[in-house]
Amino acid sequence: MIIRKLYQGEKSPINLLLLADPSHSLVEEYLKRGECYVAELDNQIVGVYVLLPTRPETVELVNIAVEESFQNRGIGKQLIFHAIQLAKLKDYKTIEIGTGNSSIGQLALYQKCGFRITGVDQNFFIRHYNQKIVENGIQCKDMIRLSLEI
Ligand code: COA
Repeated sequence: MIIRKLYQGEKSPINLLLLADPSHSLVEEYLKRGECYVAELDNQIVGVYVLLPTRPETVELVNIAVEESFQNRGIGKQLIFHAIQLAKLKDYKTIEIGTGNSSIGQLALYQKCGFRITGVDQNFFIRHYNQKIVENGIQCKDMIRLSLEI
């Protein structure tokens, strides 16, 4: 598997990106402001993430997603470690990530990769999304913010 930057002019894997965030407009915004990386296996794009500069010395890992039939094989972890290495190379000092209070697997994964919880953006998903989101039998209301010093 290789992880590479999306080529200039290459179509972004929009369905994959929407797996991570159902808001088309937010995804478009992230693509405009950030750099998109894809994981490719046998010429098929199976994973994606966007690295988004936010504040001085800080980047956010947004829109990470792995094709459903390729999940739970370590690809998500490889994408996260790729993003951390890239952020280090670019001299960022902090990498952040956010996920829903109901995203139990994602919260496990990010903490396994070293991220620590730094805060809660209460009602983020109520404020920014029209549709009710439910995962693991829990309504997604708050954004859990995590970060890693690099
Ligand atoms: N409890 C404990 N650990 C859990 C867990 C749970 N409920 N669910 C998942 N995990 C752990 C796995 O055990 C594994 O850790 P391990 O390597 O120590 O065994 C890790 O999380 C999953 O790692 P990996 O296989 O690398 O992840 P993946 O390739 O399946 O990708 C996502 C992870 C989140 C990118 C993928 O599930 C996805 O695309 N989801 C839909 C989009 C999405 O939600 N994106 C994130 C938005 S914030």
